[in-house]
Amino acid sequence: MPPVAESPLRLRADFPILARRVNGHPLVYLDSSATSQKPAIVIEALAEHLREHNANVHRGVYSLAQEADAAFEQARARVAAFAGADATTTIFTKNVTEAINLVAYSWGRSHLGPEDAVLITQMEHHANIVPWQVLCRERGATLRYLEVDERGELSLEQLDAELARGDVRMLAFAHVSNVLGTINPAAEMIARARAAGAVTLVDGAQAVPQMPVDVSALEADFYAWTGHKALGPTGVGVLHGRREILEQMPPFLTGGDMIASVDLQEATWNELPWKFEAGTPPVAEAVGLAAAVEYLDGIGMQRVRAHEQALTAYMIDSLARVPGLRVVGPPEADRRGGLASFTVDGLHPHDVAELVGRSGVCIRAGHHCAQPLMRCLGVGATARASVGVYNQPADIDALIEALAAGREIFGL
Ligand SMILES: Cc1ncc(COP(=O)(O)O)c(C=O)c1O
Repeated sequence: MPPVAESPLRLRADFPILARRVNGHPLVYLDSSATSQKPAIVIEALAEHLREHNANVHRGVYSLAQEADAAFEQARARVAAFAGADATTTIFTKNVTEAINLVAYSWGRSHLGPEDAVLITQMEHHANIVPWQVLCRERGATLRYLEVDERGELSLEQLDAELARGDVRMLAFAHVSNVLGTINPAAEMIARARAAGAVTLVDGAQAVPQMPVDVSALEADFYAWTGHKALGPTGVGVLHGRREILEQMPPFLTGGDMIASVDLQEATWNELPWKFEAGTPPVAEAVGLAAAVEYLDGIGMQRVRAHEQALTAYMIDSLARVPGLRVVGPPEADRRGGLASFTVDGLHPHDVAELVGRSGVCIRAGHHCAQPLMRCLGVGATARASVGVYNQPADIDALIEALAAGREIFGL
């Protein structure tokens, strides 16, 4: 076996679900890229809000409603600070998918025409493909892709060449790929796009949970992420936007809360960020997310990154010793996030996931909502193991043992 990674964080006990046994085995959770587990502190913050402070926001004058208002807006300020963003340009959505749709509908429909192009990459999650496809079809614009090379990385030369064509209005890309693990050079890509007059959107779904992200320093026009992958509850996502652009954009969804006043035929819009939050927002979920980012900040995002990088190095090293197993994406752990997607000769990825699941090891198999990338890789599906702050080298060992047992069942 390769040397066990230095792993300074010992946080498993903070996550109640990890005390469970599955199929008679201790639960080994290696599916954090799909959703993270939640520390007790988040579960308690959510429960406490519902138990003690629940009322609708922005509508009540009684004390309880004011408590709910304060809790929601404090959560916004906490979440914004975590990402280095301003609270007034931090919009709560349902998830990152909705955040990207918000931009595609609102910014896209008012800015794109038949002469224009949207540039994305071959490694995008469907959440950062389909909204642009729909938008481009509707506006007669063109959707182009940056290619992924054999290492699972993008080429800045190709980016420059695409931008030099002069028609790219939007560059949208994942900060960290949910399949390859690749960490894209976001700051560099944003700077080049800005210089070429293109607006940028970064899908930070996989980045924010595992590395320091400073939205202001990155200078993206839009940065979107999702709470449930960052130790927070489901049902809450985040869009940080550049004020000047958000102010010019028409609303996305319309109805209550997002208006200043409504007449029989006309309405005017609320200020930022509420202009983009129609209807009752995810109040308790935002409070839970604030507790999650407080917990992450308490650890320190540099330490989170160091922990997950060490585990990923150990995981890639360990997986490489399994006969017939191929890991996709950059081989170096410092160029990738905390996940490894792989194929095993003679085994379908679904069989791999099912077999290791019998030993209580949770990994994912499938196209990971990235079918265009699967085609580039020449596979229909992969298995994917991904780590979180709560994982330990022993979890990787459990995966390797379960893989060996699975290969034996198939006589490999
Ligand atoms: C890179 C990336 N983008 C977008 C998403 C979609 O996240 P959500 O379902 O929370 O909107 C995911 C989730 O797997 C992802 O990994």
